[in-house]
Amino acid sequence: MRVCILYDSKHGTTEKVARAIKEAIEEYASVEVKRVSEVTTLGDCELVIVGTPIYYEKPLKSILEFLEKHSEELEKKKVAIFIVCFAVAFRSLVRWHIQNHYIKPLKERIRGEIVGTLMLRGGIGNIGEGEIEKAKRWAFRLLDF
Ligand SMILES: Cc1cc2nc3c(=O)[nH]c(=O)nc-3n(C[C@H](O)[C@H](O)[C@H](O)COP(=O)(O)O)c2cc1C
Repeated sequence: MRVCILYDSKHGTTEKVARAIKEAIEEYASVEVKRVSEVTTLGDCELVIVGTPIYYEKPLKSILEFLEKHSEELEKKKVAIFIVCFAVAFRSLVRWHIQNHYIKPLKERIRGEIVGTLMLRGGIGNIGEGEIEKAKRWAFRLLDF
C-alpha cells in the first residue's frame, strides 16, 4: 500500500508525529512524509494521512487550503486525519468543541473516504511518548493487509 503522510507544523510537534507514524508503518507500506507546502500532486498515494496542529481554535490555514486545492484528487483516496492540540487534555469536557471547531472544518473539505480521525495532546515542540505510541497504533490499524 502506498501511504502519503502530509502535515504542517509551526513548532515541530506535528512533524514529530508524522515522522513517528512513518517509522511505525514503513516496514509494511511504501511511505513518504512531506510538509504540505512541498506537495504538488498526490500521485499514486492510496492512503493520505493529513496532520495539523490547532492554533487560535482552527486547523492551520495551509492545511485547509491544501485540502481545498486537492479536493478532486482526494475524492479518489482513502483519507485519515490527525490533529495535535492542547484541548485534548480536557477530554470529555471539550469533546463537542473539538469535533465542531477542530475536526469539522477538515472533514468538510474532504470528499474522499475518511477512514480515521485521531486527536492528540501536544505541547509546543514536544509531545509525550504515550501520544506518539497512540499515533503509531492508529496508523498501523489504517493499513490494509
Ligand atoms: C499561539 C498558540 C495558540 C494555540 N491555540 C490553540 C487552540 O486554540 N486550541 C488548542 O487546543 N491548542 C492550541 N495551541 C496548542 C498547539 O496546537 C499545540 O501546542 C501543538 O502541539 C503545536 O503543534 P506544532 O508544534 O506542530 O505547531 C496553541 C499553541 C500556541 C503556541
